[in-house]
Amino acid sequence: MTFTPTSLLITGGAGFIGSSTVRRAVAAGVSKIVVLDALTYAGHRINLGDVMSAVTFVHGNICDAALVNGLFAQHAFDSVIHLAAETHVDRSIESAAEFVQTNVVGTLTLLDASMRAWAAPNANTERRFVHVSTDEVYGSLGPTGHFTESTAYAPNSPYAASKASSDLLVRSFHRTYGLPTVVTNTCNNYGPRQLPEKLIPLMIAHALSGKKLPVYGKGAQVREWLHVDDHADSLWLALTQGAAGESYNFGSGEETDNLRMVERLADTVDEVSGNPKGMSRALITFVEDRKGHDFRYAIDSSKAKAAFGWQPKRTLAHDLRAVVEWYRDNEEWCRLVSSDEHSRFQAAYYKDREGTGGAK
Ligand SMILES: NC(=O)c1ccc[n+]([C@@H]2O[C@H](COP(=O)([O-])OP(=O)(O)OC[C@H]3O[C@@H](n4cnc5c(N)ncnc54)[C@H](O)[C@@H]3O)[C@@H](O)[C@H]2O)c1
Repeated sequence: MTFTPTSLLITGGAGFIGSSTVRRAVAAGVSKIVVLDALTYAGHRINLGDVMSAVTFVHGNICDAALVNGLFAQHAFDSVIHLAAETHVDRSIESAAEFVQTNVVGTLTLLDASMRAWAAPNANTERRFVHVSTDEVYGSLGPTGHFTESTAYAPNSPYAASKASSDLLVRSFHRTYGLPTVVTNTCNNYGPRQLPEKLIPLMIAHALSGKKLPVYGKGAQVREWLHVDDHADSLWLALTQGAAGESYNFGSGEETDNLRMVERLADTVDEVSGNPKGMSRALITFVEDRKGHDFRYAIDSSKAKAAFGWQPKRTLAHDLRAVVEWYRDNEEWCRLVSSDEHSRFQAAYYKDREGTGGAK
């Protein structure tokens, strides 16, 4: 059975994955879309550019219960895609409080509001609450194996622990109150509009401006990479076809270690900039590893494949070059999103590391 959302709340819609998800929902023709975003250092109206006029944008915090309850009363949401979060692992290592506040307390606020709004008298109306999470909740793998939906949670960073906590709250609201929740656990994303504090856009930005490309440790950590628009497609599947109370892993199967990824980005920057071969690779430097750096994440997507015929449409081989070109062609965007707060964190945290980007 397919669920058709008519009034959809998207939290964190001004961020990287959120803005792609808003575009996906607009393209699907949802009649009412409300975007709730606090516009932290990571959220920017510019990310919604062409679709801003198709949504109601609310500048506010998911922890503000009065605001969230008021939005449910005003817009009678039948669905939520919850993406708002603090997302940068390095920041969570510096200070975890904001991660607990937004990722745990903020999620609880949304769950409470949904439960209240979706209780009787319209209890038979179809509804969905999609909670967007990460593969990091499962901890770290060795060189082999994959995370499945039944892998025990073992988060290692404060970011991963806050996401795991929110996933468990979501589970409890389904078990206790019957809230029609769906949880998605997804691998690392790449694509346009990702803040240049994460590995891929940071390395592209540095290579484009001839700055060093600092790689944590030996760059041996392995990550699985999914294009952001494929992530948005997966959230649409979870919303419209996901079974209440289930969680689904979405991966691409495209694993690469961080050093190979940085080399690949360096070579692609040289290609699109007409630089001599190897020029950007020469900028690679190895720096002190991240504390508690997980070795490998890899996702078993067979449940989503069986349930939805899940298959990403984009690949690194075909689509990474376009991503590099997007950052090359959107210098103004890079300048605008590099807020004072963002720059201060970069300068303080990375003072000994010369701007290392975390791959999550
Ligand atoms: N980036 C990835 O590779 C990845 C992979 C899997 C899952 N996820 C999850 O997807 C979601 C989106 O990630 P992203 O990379 O787009 O993040 P992002 O950091 O780019 O964007 C987060 C957005 O949330 C907003 N926000 C933060 N705190 C808020 C608050 N208290 N109230 C309202 N809005 C708030 C920010 O302003 C921003 O627009 C997160 O839940 C993240 O855990 C990300």
